Amino acid sequence: MTYGSSKTAAISSSANSAESREGTSGLGETLGHSLMERIGNTPLLRLDAVTRDLQGVTLLGKAEWYNPGGSVKDRAAASIVAEAGRRGLLYPGRILLDATSGNTGIAYAMLGAAEGFPVTLCMPENVSRERKQIVQGYGANIIYTDPADGSDGAIRMARQLAAEHPDTYFYADQYSNDANWKAHYFMTANEIWQQTQGRVTHFVSMLGTSGTFVGTTRRLKELNPAIKCISLQPDSSFHGIEGAKHMASAIVPKIYDPTIADQNLEIATEDAYAMARRLSRSAGLLVGISAAAAVVGCLKIARELPLHREQEAVIVTILLCDSGDKYLSERFWSEG
Ligand SMILES: Cc1ncc(COP(=O)(O)O)c(C=O)c1O
Repeated sequence: MTYGSSKTAAISSSANSAESREGTSGLGETLGHSLMERIGNTPLLRLDAVTRDLQGVTLLGKAEWYNPGGSVKDRAAASIVAEAGRRGLLYPGRILLDATSGNTGIAYAMLGAAEGFPVTLCMPENVSRERKQIVQGYGANIIYTDPADGSDGAIRMARQLAAEHPDTYFYADQYSNDANWKAHYFMTANEIWQQTQGRVTHFVSMLGTSGTFVGTTRRLKELNPAIKCISLQPDSSFHGIEGAKHMASAIVPKIYDPTIADQNLEIATEDAYAMARRLSRSAGLLVGISAAAAVVGCLKIARELPLHREQEAVIVTILLCDSGDKYLSERFWSEG
């Protein structure tokens, strides 16, 4: 028996996955959906509340909290599990191991609980309390690493465990695993293309493992090379944008390809906090910090565009990676 061989496999391998799932949604062969079939095809929300002063700009955000694990990382985790299942790397008795700052861990833990494989996660001790509780709620095992070492400390711990116990663990290694970016190449980019009827002009994404940016950009550029793809990073190594990486000072993920970005911008944590407050209070969108940071980046880009009244609309698309509910214990919500 392998994991991820049935419904999970369908979501990672095919650009037509939306169509194939459509077939099971009515009175066809099955009733209802499996958890895995609900990954992807997230709604595209208009963010008009923040673009009112930007004539000709439409900002659209994919509401990734509609994934069953609550974040964009369900896509990568399901793709990684499906690929490991296909290659016979994850089998009964073997533990899925990875380093994660939270959302990927939640996704692995959910998939492990749904499909019956054990999950061990290395994460910095200072990730939000809510994230730890969710992972534990799914029954996964956590190994905490020194907060001072950030996500790199968790990566080093996972590498060490995998090297010492190669038979015990399947080391998923989201930072080096091609199934990560391929999830976005096969799913996310095609969803954006279809949901914007091919009218997307810019794609903007925060960098963590870089899977979202690399996979989505590669496919969007194939669909229309004129689409501008812009990556975003925190502006320093000490930042509060959970899930994001400051590449200049971090272990650079093997899957990261810096050559594909048309532009790369740095975002200050304080600006992301202010945007999270603004989106929740003036748009009714309680988004996570990296999602708010992505909106900050989009507005910076949009303000620099030479827009003319008669010009065709500019359609900027981002991923709102998760909702704000996992960050509610942070003080910034009440500070502005
Ligand atoms: C909240 C959040 N935003 C952004 C990212 C970055 O996504 P990626 O790893 O695909 O670069 C992550 C990754 O874990 C995340 O958890």
